[in-house]
Amino acid sequence: MDKLHVNLGAESYDICFNDSFDKLVYSLREIGAPNKLLIVTDTHVAPLYAGEVGSLLKEAGYDSAVYAFPAGEENKGMDAILGICGACLEHGLDRKSMIIALGGGVVGDMAGFAAAIYMRGIDFVQIPTTLLSQSDSSVGGKTGIDFMESKNILGAFHQPRLVYINVSTLKTLPPVEFISGMGEVIKHGIIRDAEFYGFIKDNSELIKSLDSRTLIEMSKKNCGIKARVVERDEKENGLRAILNFGHTIGHAAESALNFTTTHGECVGLGMVAVSRIAARRGLIGREILEDMENTLKMYGFRTRMALPAAEEIYSFMLKDKKKTDGRLKFVLPVRIGDVTQTRDVTEEEIFDAISYISE
Ligand SMILES: NC(=O)c1ccc[n+]([C@@H]2O[C@H](COP(=O)([O-])OP(=O)(O)OC[C@H]3O[C@@H](n4cnc5c(N)ncnc54)[C@H](O)[C@@H]3O)[C@@H](O)[C@H]2O)c1
Repeated sequence: MDKLHVNLGAESYDICFNDSFDKLVYSLREIGAPNKLLIVTDTHVAPLYAGEVGSLLKEAGYDSAVYAFPAGEENKGMDAILGICGACLEHGLDRKSMIIALGGGVVGDMAGFAAAIYMRGIDFVQIPTTLLSQSDSSVGGKTGIDFMESKNILGAFHQPRLVYINVSTLKTLPPVEFISGMGEVIKHGIIRDAEFYGFIKDNSELIKSLDSRTLIEMSKKNCGIKARVVERDEKENGLRAILNFGHTIGHAAESALNFTTTHGECVGLGMVAVSRIAARRGLIGREILEDMENTLKMYGFRTRMALPAAEEIYSFMLKDKKKTDGRLKFVLPVRIGDVTQTRDVTEEEIFDAISYISE
């Protein structure tokens, strides 16, 4: 089985890559998982995978139970957290017990947050089942929930003990969610690794047809990029902010569109917008901007969208929690595989970029 080590001192862990759940029990034994486990999932994923995972754990002698909360970002709040904590109590989890997060980014963020606060913190394992969670949210230890219309505003850094990626779960994922996850994968190539970006371009047919071997290779390379960034800046004091490439404008567009479009597609749009700013500044050539747009289109992204007025999108950007010292932070590409962070992007550049991505 392919593996990747995330080196965070006492909080280090492995990411395992497979095309089945066959090695899950072996991986749990390797980390000395306790006997009492709670599988936390959502109502879409439960009927697909909770039975198989639950049976494997029970057959191996674990005392496991399943708790499923209603699927969807709109449920990523305190009520569901209290539901998870209630299930922990009912199943008799103690300080040595463990939560298994089985699902997409919403499940991972919430199960992780519940694990961070239950009995002042218990261990948890991530079994991500969407492309977004397999390529981004399950690695890095950010957990949290939405509150008062602000995304991920309450949370904690809590690293998992293990991430187990079964790429076969992507076979049941709706295509729109696959595209959303590819946004983060392409982002990692652009910000950090030109060779990986080339791999994504060269293998698009195998990736889109969900060829297991190619997906495992992509996932491993991709998680490696995120892991190396997180290792250097676990708590986002500097370098980790480059992972927000495309998010400042993308997030604002997502909010202005009232979350009717997926996060990943908005990030893709945001990446085009900031690359337009970079191209106008001469940081990258126009051909690089064009190449990025073509790569996104190759995976089904729209690089232009009917958007609300630029003023509205800008007002959402000003609410962005990543804004400090009154100035928005932007991550601009300087070539494929490298970016720079800046706070000097002007309103004129922002409005031009929004107009560029508007239909
Ligand atoms: N912690 C981080 O670092 C981080 C990073 C990026 C995003 N996020 C968070 O991740 C969340 C988005 O994650 P997501 O895109 O995975 O959303 P999600 O968890 O809502 O999953 C999308 C949909 O797919 C369903 N689903 C999950 N796995 C499936 C499968 N294998 N087959 C069929 N359906 C499946 C889910 O039930 C849901 O309906 C957001 O809340 C975002 O804030 C966190």
